[in-house]
Amino acid sequence: MRIDIITVLPELLRSPFEASILKRAIDKGIVEVHLHNLRDYSTNKHKNVDDYQFGGGAGMVMSIEPIDACISRLKSERDYDEVIYMTPDGETLNQGMANRMSLLKNIIILCGHYKGVDQRVRDHFITKEISIGDFVLSGGELAAAVVSDAIIRLIPGVLSNETSALTDSFQDNLLSPPIYTRPAEYKGWKVPDVLLSGNFANIDKWREDQALEHTKNRRPDLLE
Ligand code: ADE
Repeated sequence: MRIDIITVLPELLRSPFEASILKRAIDKGIVEVHLHNLRDYSTNKHKNVDDYQFGGGAGMVMSIEPIDACISRLKSERDYDEVIYMTPDGETLNQGMANRMSLLKNIIILCGHYKGVDQRVRDHFITKEISIGDFVLSGGELAAAVVSDAIIRLIPGVLSNETSALTDSFQDNLLSPPIYTRPAEYKGWKVPDVLLSGNFANIDKWREDQALEHTKNRRPDLLE
């Protein structure tokens, strides 16, 4: 998979891809992540990528020209499955979307800034708009990192134990059951006996029951 991220703040997006699972996925050649500084596509002498709103109002708007130049250049080099715009009024990210996107080959992610982008960018270039939740970030960069992480860890070969993604919270619309490691008792706080029993049928049953209970308590909406 190849992810091209268009941003005015590439420095904000470097470190998430330079550590842990995402770095390993890149080092193994399973995913390529390319950061594009939108200012490199500005023809303006001050390298501006934004301008005042037509009709007045506070806040700058990202201009269509540099975004068109960047997206068109990328599209002339390869086909893209999706051109995604990160925005709080997009479709809210969930595990199902991450699963589907992990099957794609090439995607572009455009990070919004200031008030957002000129509507014509959304109308003519964007194929999917994603929000990571009902709150407003200073820009789309951290949201793009979240989406990329959620997708990349699902690509086969990225996690050393592939089953570990299958047992994540949300994979089957259930939250994960509690987990424990040694010591079996700490300050009198004991690990549930069943987990030490060696009876794997009982352990599976306990985990299923706990996942269901946990989901009922915390996220009953997932069970509807
Ligand atoms: N940009 C600003 N806030 C955002 C959000 N919640 N999700 C995606 N992109 C954003």
